[in-house]
Amino acid sequence: MLGVCYYPEHWREEKIREDVLRMRDLGIEKVRVGEFAWSYFEPRPGEFRWQRFDTFFQLAQEEGLQVIFGTPTATPPRWLIDRDPTILPLDKGGRVRKFGSRRHYCFSHPGYREEVRRIVTLLGERYGERPALVGWQTDNEYGCHDTVRCYCDRCKMAFREWLKERYGDIDTLNQAWGTVFWSQRYNSFDEIELPNLIVTEPNPSHLLDYFRFASHQVVLFNRSQVEILRKLSPGRFITHNCVGGFTDFDHFALSEDLDFITWDSYPLGHALELSREVELGMIDCRVGHPDLVALVHDLYRGVGRGRFGVMEQQVGPVNWAPYNTSPRQGMVRLWTWEAIAHGAELVSYFRWRQVPFAQEQMHSGLLCPDSTPCASFEEVKKVSEELQRVSLPPTERGPIALLFDYEAAWVFGVQPHGERVFYSDLVFRFYTALRRLGFDIDILPQGASLKEYKLVVVPSLPIVSERVLSSLQGVKGMVVFGPRSGSKTENFHIPSSLPPGLLQAILPLRVTGVESLPPLIEKVYWRGKEYPAGIWREWVYTSLQPEMVFGDGKGAAFRKGNYYYLAFWPEVELLVDFFERITQELGLCPVRLPDELRIRRRGNLIFAFNFGSQALEAPVSKEVSFIIGEKMLPPCEVAVWKEERL
Ligand code: GAL
Ligand code: ZN
Repeated sequence: MLGVCYYPEHWREEKIREDVLRMRDLGIEKVRVGEFAWSYFEPRPGEFRWQRFDTFFQLAQEEGLQVIFGTPTATPPRWLIDRDPTILPLDKGGRVRKFGSRRHYCFSHPGYREEVRRIVTLLGERYGERPALVGWQTDNEYGCHDTVRCYCDRCKMAFREWLKERYGDIDTLNQAWGTVFWSQRYNSFDEIELPNLIVTEPNPSHLLDYFRFASHQVVLFNRSQVEILRKLSPGRFITHNCVGGFTDFDHFALSEDLDFITWDSYPLGHALELSREVELGMIDCRVGHPDLVALVHDLYRGVGRGRFGVMEQQVGPVNWAPYNTSPRQGMVRLWTWEAIAHGAELVSYFRWRQVPFAQEQMHSGLLCPDSTPCASFEEVKKVSEELQRVSLPPTERGPIALLFDYEAAWVFGVQPHGERVFYSDLVFRFYTALRRLGFDIDILPQGASLKEYKLVVVPSLPIVSERVLSSLQGVKGMVVFGPRSGSKTENFHIPSSLPPGLLQAILPLRVTGVESLPPLIEKVYWRGKEYPAGIWREWVYTSLQPEMVFGDGKGAAFRKGNYYYLAFWPEVELLVDFFERITQELGLCPVRLPDELRIRRRGNLIFAFNFGSQALEAPVSKEVSFIIGEKMLPPCEVAVWKEERL
């Protein structure tokens, strides 16, 4: 269950033995190595050294540690770049992103893909069948540092091919993109450029297709490694470590080629994303938002079709956030248990020891640069002891599904139509409201089977296909849609029957206008209570009676049978009240939790987490016996108990 990220190439050979013994004593089982070591393995073209890694593999085997090998393709060596400088990606401004850090490659580059196949083959041949090797990680954090979308000539050529495949002939493309507008008509696919460096806003259909194309290149790049590793390293898993919650490529598509998925969890590094509450002092900057990490766990459990882990777990201050705070005592243990509660199969800490040189010298590890243990070391020790006491049941399906869609994120990005209009923000609002009511949530893609869920939440799904419509029609419980659902066709047009387009089969209404707004300047009334609203509002024509109304009396939410449509950007407070009522109606049991307490079930175990600064009581109805902790949870504490099932 526990792992650590380690870099044999950074340390003297004698140190490696000492480290391996210490890892084993700490209760570490898996060690990830290798993912940036290309120029260690191949300092000059065709000249190889394996020494440190051979030693490491030998020791790992002797001490019973399991190795996860990261392919080093995020860092092509300098000599390779010199041999073919076109491997370097171009940014949106058309400038070369030079050698000197990492991720300096273009996903579409055929020559680079060839080099990748070569180094992955060499590594697969050398280490693929070592007894200590349990799995592979391809590359490292695809897309990190804004690297999915490259604007080089290789990408341009590949994009043209991709478009030919998609549209067949140029007239179909002209039609799909609406190129009659502003005289954008094309006579051939060879005239099509990448959508950067133009005078004003690009054609949205063009941009969306480019986003789709760029996402697909990541999948292909990854697949070329997977194919080799499957052959050379039978029986080992293949995973990738994703940047948590990153949406520039379709993670569901990537994960189809993998055995399970992992993500890199930096709760304090990312604490400012999605909510300003940390900066406003409403949330402790050394603890982070109680739902941010949980949301990403649930997302990757969905991405991994039930199987996920954390490949990099923050253990101290990072070096790249706006504020690099130090976790409060207890948080590293709490994050570990939180991951486990959400179903993680692996929690691997980043990193073993702080490195005293180069870019990440200010990034902490479990050990200081001189190998003295940091505070987090003891917390990991505690978790590894506690893990001996808990037998972990498999994760079960929850009662509520949230539909997450990468293409939806791109559609919002292509034409946000307002300063604060972000898909992820909308998703987060729905998620946090349901978590505050004590629910477990499964996050699923469009194609997943939704039938058995009592409640399906669709924060927004702008492009609705016939297939999704029929899966939504099959839901036995209730389906709640957020704004902009059904608002675009596949080609990024407004549907001819107006939004919500195909969803009109279940929601007989027409959205005739939309506006974006400053936050909180609008009002929504529901069941006699007034709620602030803002950011987004729609005008809806329908014969349905509204369930909620705006300040001017016009309808804000509508219901037909089991389908709900919210025609605005809801505040969390409203969503909590709304879902409390809806879930009661559905026979689920919402529990209003204190703001800083969260619970999560895994099989028959219930976990509680205190993210606050005061002691809080676990929501247990009768006397239960606790496996970890007790009914009163001090700050940053965890409790685990068994649910009594009838
Ligand atoms: C991750 C990355 C690691 C390391 C870490 C620092 O994004 O995968 O290699 O850079 O951040 O927090
Ligand atoms: Zn490129």
